[in-house]
Amino acid sequence: MQKLIVDGGKRLNGTIRIHGAKNSVLPVLAATLLTNGQSIIHNCPHLSDVDCSVRILKNLGCKVKHVNSSVTVDSSNSDGFEIPDAMMREMRSSIVFLGAIIARHGQARISFPGGCELGPRPIDLHLDSLRQLGVIIEEDHGFLHCKSNGRLNGAKITLSFPSVGATENILLAACTAKGDTMILNAAREPEISDLADFLNACGAKIHGAGGGTILINGVQKLRPSEYTVIPDRIAAATFLAAAAATQGHLILQDVIPAHLSPVIPVFEDAGCEIDIRGREISIIAPRRLQSFKTVRTMPYPGFPTDAQAPVMAASTIADGTSIFIETIFENRFKHAAELMRMGAHIKIEGRVAVVEGNNRRLWGVPVEAADLRGAAALVIAGLAAEGTTEITGLQYLDRGYERLEDLLSGVGASIKRKNIEEDIKK
Ligand code: UD1
Repeated sequence: MQKLIVDGGKRLNGTIRIHGAKNSVLPVLAATLLTNGQSIIHNCPHLSDVDCSVRILKNLGCKVKHVNSSVTVDSSNSDGFEIPDAMMREMRSSIVFLGAIIARHGQARISFPGGCELGPRPIDLHLDSLRQLGVIIEEDHGFLHCKSNGRLNGAKITLSFPSVGATENILLAACTAKGDTMILNAAREPEISDLADFLNACGAKIHGAGGGTILINGVQKLRPSEYTVIPDRIAAATFLAAAAATQGHLILQDVIPAHLSPVIPVFEDAGCEIDIRGREISIIAPRRLQSFKTVRTMPYPGFPTDAQAPVMAASTIADGTSIFIETIFENRFKHAAELMRMGAHIKIEGRVAVVEGNNRRLWGVPVEAADLRGAAALVIAGLAAEGTTEITGLQYLDRGYERLEDLLSGVGASIKRKNIEEDIKK
């Protein structure tokens, strides 16, 4: 086991290059199954979720190499259609393999996915949508047996909520289906457009991704392709929050500023100066951070739920009261209890958290992360706190941030990773 040790109170100053988007890489890797050949995906960060996708692909009979930031997948000899339970439990995104496996092999056997505990995370929209495309799904003691009679059939699918994962599963299953598929109330996140761009580069005919209505003209087959995924907008938002919490000045390189448009005004409202130049964003935080007023998480183009925890960490030391309304997940305030150990004043009522910043000081204590973005929030709080913060639960952090401590050290933070066993031996 490992922990991060953060000596707080250092002003961050410098340049950080943003890695590729975890939430794009995972469905794009699943999509390589459909191409029946060798695809090369660039800008893939080294994250435990990416490692898990690589293991799933290998388990399905693909040859996969992750060298530097490129993953090469040769799916020509894929013959597997089952994902072992342990791999399904490791991350929620394992569910996006379902659409790809069923389209490629006409059958799939998986169990229910795991991932961060953010409240109930059902997969009903995924399964209902796949059924509409002609997949026959039987549930048996926690396992799903799925099969199709030949190619899937295009359908008109209306999602009751614009689920990111369900939209991705429909894209993966429908692009080689017979006839046309229309998705109404599709998710509009940039990672959906990224997946569609990869599939189109492989010969799919997907129109309107990024909007609420997506049309997919089914094609017979896809060909392999070489593709670069978009930068990670949530990692970028995390560094913006880290700068805001430390009176910092950061330049973030390799971002797509438009993807951060729901986030930038929130930092500007808190008194941060933000400057955009091409694929760079610079943030200069004020000496006294203002409150974030009201932050309501919404599907894209609303404020991302994944940035809620990092921004809450910054709000704990801001001048005034910030209110967070979490509309996407039921149980996404676990970081608040740990922030309170550090001296934050937070009241939670259902899906609303009220943070009394009042220019408060945080102090370093041992804290434990319970989910990915909550882990990032604890790192940010540690950077802002007086004294030493020790953070455990790093298996969550490593799902979504590549070398976070190295990047932060490079811009002036005092942060290092240590094996807990080293402490026990002493
Ligand atoms: C994706 C992102 C995650 C982000 C989330 C919301 C990936 C790998 N993960 O997760 O980082 O926080 O979008 O932007 O891309 N729901 C159902 N039934 C379903 C599917 C979803 O009720 O079948 C509910 C979920 O419980 C949740 C909400 O819809 O309350 C949003 O889920 P969804 O958009 O599907 O998120 P994920 O794809 O899991």
